[in-house]
Amino acid sequence: MTYPNPEMGEGFLAAFPRRNRLHVPLRLGENLMDRIGNTPLLRLASLTRDLPEVQISGKAEWFNPGGSVKDRAAANIIAEGRRAGKFGPGKILLDSTSGNTGIAYAMLGAAQGFPVALCMPVNVSVERKRILEAYGANIFYTDPAEGSDGAIRYARELYAGNPEKYFYADQYSNDANWRAHYLTTATEIWQQTQGRITHFVSMLGTSGTFIGTTRRLKELNPHVRCISLQPDSAFHGIEGAKHMATAIVPGIYDASLADENMEIATEDAYKMVKQLARQEALLVGISAAAAVVGCMRMVENFKRGQRAIIVTILCDSGDRYLSERFWDEI
Ligand SMILES: Cc1ncc(COP(=O)(O)O)c(C=O)c1O
Repeated sequence: MTYPNPEMGEGFLAAFPRRNRLHVPLRLGENLMDRIGNTPLLRLASLTRDLPEVQISGKAEWFNPGGSVKDRAAANIIAEGRRAGKFGPGKILLDSTSGNTGIAYAMLGAAQGFPVALCMPVNVSVERKRILEAYGANIFYTDPAEGSDGAIRYARELYAGNPEKYFYADQYSNDANWRAHYLTTATEIWQQTQGRITHFVSMLGTSGTFIGTTRRLKELNPHVRCISLQPDSAFHGIEGAKHMATAIVPGIYDASLADENMEIATEDAYKMVKQLARQEALLVGISAAAAVVGCMRMVENFKRGQRAIIVTILCDSGDRYLSERFWDEI
């Protein structure tokens, strides 16, 4: 069946030939939950132009309705909280966040009609704060010098002071976080690569994405190499990521799952944000760019001619960081 659009004319159809053969009916009226996950896997072709045997692809997580990978974890944490009878009418969802999980909670709260309270370092990007305000979340700002750990401590205090009032979602210790990726992200990657993935590379924040995806991929093929990435120092600009050696280690983190761990410098991530925008036409966020830096560094150490299908996670889009100073600096 074809769906020609009479307003577009011949030129449009010639420029986008696959539109002539659109056989997927438009999905109207889809609900929010159905739009979480199933993100495209984008090939970063120009980065590996000189290495035809290597493919690097990234899951474009900004296609989630809340604009980041964290929609997956937040949706599962809420669903599991309800199923376990811990969350329901009369309770406020409470958690600490560096922004994206908060946005996901706030969006789901608006959709499902529950209140959301978030603890967040005051120095997160202005775009994140504005989005949270737009969705109507209640925000408690914490000391930027204490980073995400300060936000965690404040959420714990609020909950301890009033446990009846809150459902403390606690993304750092909640198994529903990594299970979301075990059930969705890993399965999608497996299907999208037809089971041919050789390396999985992912940045660590709560570690939910890395832990859940790695657990499932290793079950599907124990030979898939899984590489975790983290910032190279406690004070870094890779929003959403954690320097495990100096941070409160998330309860769900299991360092033994990684075949290798690499440290990424913030400056390298900033440079890669610009390179991806200008060379791949992909405007990604800082942690996404850091993940690509990790992929490229790994490829540098490959033996000549080594074949690889590398998949990473592009956690969010660069339009969440347009107010950051690095755009003017490098
Ligand atoms: C932009 C960004 N990148 C990476 C991560 C890390 O993901 P995870 O918490 O699953 O380790 C997060 C988490 O909030 C994030 O917001």
